[in-house]
Amino acid sequence: MSLLTTPDLATGLLSALMQSRQDAVGDQIMARWTEFTPNVRRTAISVLMRRSTWTKAMLDAVDQKEIPKADLAPEHWTQLQRNPDRQVARTAERLATMTASSSEERKGVLDKLLPLANEQGDAARGKEVFATSCVVCHVINGEGGKVGPELTGIGARDRTEILQEILDPNRSLEANYRLWIVTTNEDAVFAGRLEAETQTTVKILDLVAQKHIIQRSDIKSLQVSPQSIMPAGFDALPAEDLKNLLEYLAQSKG
Ligand code: HEC
Repeated sequence: MSLLTTPDLATGLLSALMQSRQDAVGDQIMARWTEFTPNVRRTAISVLMRRSTWTKAMLDAVDQKEIPKADLAPEHWTQLQRNPDRQVARTAERLATMTASSSEERKGVLDKLLPLANEQGDAARGKEVFATSCVVCHVINGEGGKVGPELTGIGARDRTEILQEILDPNRSLEANYRLWIVTTNEDAVFAGRLEAETQTTVKILDLVAQKHIIQRSDIKSLQVSPQSIMPAGFDALPAEDLKNLLEYLAQSKG
């Protein structure tokens, strides 16, 4: 069993590490980062903030894109930019203002497709696109799967912003919406969103919206991917489909 799958043990281990003054602790924590659930991660961040060599290990991991920037909450970034260690503060400042959007290539795709948001589409056709590509994961107007957030009422938001969410799902991403992969002692694998965690269980909502409650004592390993569960390839949809889809979403006012 991985030490860090039980929050008590994980938190205990982290507190023990916190007493240590060894420089290697930062790298040791970062090496196990993908095994941390959000609760454990918050503790880990507070440990890493204690010593600037450890904090640097964390910032390096973000810089090298080993962990997504969004693993640290906005309040962590604010705190890091005020770090008394000038080098930490400067690195944090550079990383905090780095665009969340994944890559230059993605930016090119967005620049080309975002103007579609200003064009009129056909909502009825858009509903069909939604039924084919989106409804497994999103509820809208009372129908659909609960893997992603409900989209009823999304029409209240700016059209360009909605299109951006569809084309670049990794830009604003919450830990719970990443792909979590749990392997049990019996080698059963559950992959999906981490819906909830308690001291003794984790709850995974898989990609067909089925719930699985897994005892922590049954877990052999737990890993989180750096990407959102929401697939990143929707820019491959025909422009006409995107326009219609957007028209359909824009009409959902809740
Ligand atoms: C495999 C599941 C899955 C599919 C298929 C999927 N999504 Fe998502 N979607 C998600 C998840 C999970 C999130 C939350 C993203 C995050 O925060 O990382 C999301 C986020 C979104 C958001 C942002 C919502 C918010 O509250 O900010 C929009 C808009 C959206 N999806 C639209 C779509 C559309 C339109 C389609 C079809 C073209 C689609 N999604 C297909 C899982 C999916």
